[in-house]
Amino acid sequence: MDTLTELNRKGYIEESIDPTLDLFEEIEKLKKEKNAIVLAHYYQEPDIQDIADYIGDSLGLSQEAAKTEADVIVFAGVHFMAETAKILSPEKTVLLPDLKAGCSLADSCPPHLFKKFKEKYPDHLVITYVNCTAELKALSDIVCTSTNAVQIVESLPKDQKIIFGPDKNLGAWVAKKTGRDLVLWNGACMVHEIFSREKITKLKERHPKAKFIAHPECEESVLQMADYIGSTTGLLKYSINSDASEFIVATESGIIHQMEKASPGKTFIPAPPNNNCACNDCPYMKRNTLEKLYLCLKNGLPEVTVPADIIERARKPIERMLEISAKLGL
Ligand code: 13P
Ligand code: SF4
Repeated sequence: MDTLTELNRKGYIEESIDPTLDLFEEIEKLKKEKNAIVLAHYYQEPDIQDIADYIGDSLGLSQEAAKTEADVIVFAGVHFMAETAKILSPEKTVLLPDLKAGCSLADSCPPHLFKKFKEKYPDHLVITYVNCTAELKALSDIVCTSTNAVQIVESLPKDQKIIFGPDKNLGAWVAKKTGRDLVLWNGACMVHEIFSREKITKLKERHPKAKFIAHPECEESVLQMADYIGSTTGLLKYSINSDASEFIVATESGIIHQMEKASPGKTFIPAPPNNNCACNDCPYMKRNTLEKLYLCLKNGLPEVTVPADIIERARKPIERMLEISAKLGL
């Protein structure tokens, strides 16, 4: 089978790797050889976070992708993040260790349906959360992340009508924080919707001094219990600056690696899901492995591409977000 067919089928190239190789050393060598950098999201497995040149949330990763001088960006994250990097740096090669590292939230908003939805509100401005496809970004006026969603809505005149998509939970939280009436798309993330309010209540009873911290993609009933709500970077900073020594963390469990590294004396407990599976692991984020990252850097594949017309239309709303964020010092 040829390489491209195999890539389309599996999402990555399968090749045997010499078990005596030190992958950390090999990846470092390849990075120098190819003038490549590795950008990793906090939800990646610990080994990938440790090999990354930059680790961050969606906003930080887009800012880094926009300014890097490397020729090759290996995006250790999910597909929409790599697409955003490609849109901001179309002249660079953007690699994703596994092309099937998608996102349930992005999948919950098919662009052709969103286009019809948007047509029902012709006088509304469209703000889309970065967790969506490039095609959806091309239908938007401004993109936002969980770090700047509140400020982006507040940067618009009070009487401006707004559609917010695709995440209804983040949208409802932003509406509450800003006092604006947002028209919401009914999308959600499978990882953040799985937390159980009942089990968290019991866990809090067992750890009365623990702070409960949550990502705004969680449902309103879970967010109501939170001592702090924020993006992954926000949650990490809160855990560093807080005097508390125990934290119950309602987001993807990968972030706990950085929390433990930054505060070795503190205890971090993943918030329990409403069943017994390891559902606060994002199955898409966790498709990337150190082995796939090594093979993708070595072979220069799989590469993420975005059609030129989509790049042109999706770039403006992302740049608007970056400009507003820079003005606000975010
Ligand atoms: P952050 O931008 O807060 O890192 O969130 C990304 C994400 O995918 C949350 O599920
Ligand atoms: Fe998408 Fe949810 Fe995974 Fe984030 S955690 S990448 S929103 S599926």
